[in-house]
Amino acid sequence: MLSEKTINIVKEITPAVAANAETITRRFYERMFAGNPEVKAFFNQAHQHSGGQQRALAGAICAYFTHIDNLEALTPAVELIAQKHCSLGIKKEHYPIVGKHLLAAIKDVMGHAATDEIIAAVAEAYGLLAQVCIDRESQIYADQQAKQGGWNGYRRFVIDRKEPESEIVTSFYLKPADDQPLPKYLPGQYITVRLDHPTTPTSPRNYSLSDRPGNDYFRISVKREPALADGAPNGLISNYLHDGLDVGDSLDVGPPCGEFTIDPAATNGRPIAFLAGGIGVTPLLAMAKSLAQASVATPICFVQAAKNSRVHALGAEVRELSTKSSNFRTKIIYDAPLPDDVGTGKCDKEGIVTKEALREWTPVDDAEFYLCGPAPFMTSVMSSLRELGVDEARVRHEFFGPQQSIPT
Ligand SMILES: Cc1cc2nc3c(=O)[nH]c(=O)nc-3n(C[C@H](O)[C@H](O)[C@H](O)COP(=O)(O)OP(=O)(O)OC[C@H]3O[C@@H](n4cnc5c(N)ncnc54)[C@H](O)[C@@H]3O)c2cc1C
Ligand code: HEM
Repeated sequence: MLSEKTINIVKEITPAVAANAETITRRFYERMFAGNPEVKAFFNQAHQHSGGQQRALAGAICAYFTHIDNLEALTPAVELIAQKHCSLGIKKEHYPIVGKHLLAAIKDVMGHAATDEIIAAVAEAYGLLAQVCIDRESQIYADQQAKQGGWNGYRRFVIDRKEPESEIVTSFYLKPADDQPLPKYLPGQYITVRLDHPTTPTSPRNYSLSDRPGNDYFRISVKREPALADGAPNGLISNYLHDGLDVGDSLDVGPPCGEFTIDPAATNGRPIAFLAGGIGVTPLLAMAKSLAQASVATPICFVQAAKNSRVHALGAEVRELSTKSSNFRTKIIYDAPLPDDVGTGKCDKEGIVTKEALREWTPVDDAEFYLCGPAPFMTSVMSSLRELGVDEARVRHEFFGPQQSIPT
């Protein structure tokens, strides 16, 4: 518990911290990578360059300060962070490093305004949040270890099969090198892949498990990143998976993590609508296939948006949901169809997922929505859902990168 004095100080400084939050987190990462370079390997440098990670941390700090006297409100955010940390192997001994550099960054940015009393209050508040994360993370690590077939840290896997799903997406079927069983995971969870890139030291990457649990393999479906005109680095791991690794090659895999999941045994009878944009289909397909396998009787709609048939991945598996289960409805929509995509049944509609399409295809009044896709897709779909009066409590989403807010 925080002292009342600390709570009051944190409340007082929240507007000033919020106004400078991203400057503080940028400074924090500069300091931490310079002072403790050993932790840099955990961090995806693409997320540093895009500023996504600085924004996500700034958002988390502001949310914490805003809810300093109502920590319950932070439970979903803490779960997301703890799952991410556990996917990467963050340990309790790392927290003092982050705390030290965060406080120093606040001092750097706020200057004289950050009095000793304020810094002491922020240190106390950081200590509490750190403890909340550490406690949840140690529980997750213990659960991972206790599961049948489970493990902590990295385990060696071998690429058993490599299946092209489209011109830009390939599925990798991964089996443990030790031939021991795999743990059950929740559909929607992701694994962490760590590999030795031949030229560039890299941090691990997360990939959603794109098939339902219960198989003797983990499947990930990876999109190749396109070459950039200015020659800037792109697709370090995804392109190396496509071009540099083959059947029989091995890589390190972290245990399944993530809170963007669905429990087939707890759908409450509510209709479910999956809205997938591009490669965002992966966690949603795992969820939908699990519901189909569990014969969940509720109405389920799966909308898959892609550019065209050349890049459309896993469409046959999406279609199969509705051919095999009568409560499933699937819709495929292309926003840049090729000439022979039109009128040949490859897609149901041309264009983007509009409000009208959502009204026609999904039970907007009572469905629970699961969204995953690139930011423009999420923004557009979310704005349509808002216009249709869908309460945000009925919408869950995941970004393939640091968490961001979906603009209103
Ligand atoms: C929970 C989760 C689930 C995911 N699931 C999937 C999935 O199922 N399938 C899938 O394909 N992906 C998935 N991803 C995304 C995946 O983790 C990788 O981010 C993606 O494969 C790109 O990684 P990369 O190493 O290939 O590209 P990177 O090299 O990391 O490049 C990504 C972007 O950052 C830019 N960039 C990188 N380095 C720099 C630099 N130094 N300066 C400027 N710009 C830079 C690149 O130009 C590019 O636009 C998921 C991510 C998360 C968080
Ligand atoms: C209370 C302290 C902490 C808070 C509030 C915090 C918050 C966050 C947040 C909000 C994210 C983004 C999650 C997402 O949207 O994907 C994140 C990711 C991450 N955190 Fe923490 N964190 C804390 C401590 C730590 C510590 C001690 C480490 C270890 C060095 C750490 C390492 C990471 C890494 C490696 C990522 C992933 C970054 C990436 O995508 O590159 N964090 N954290």
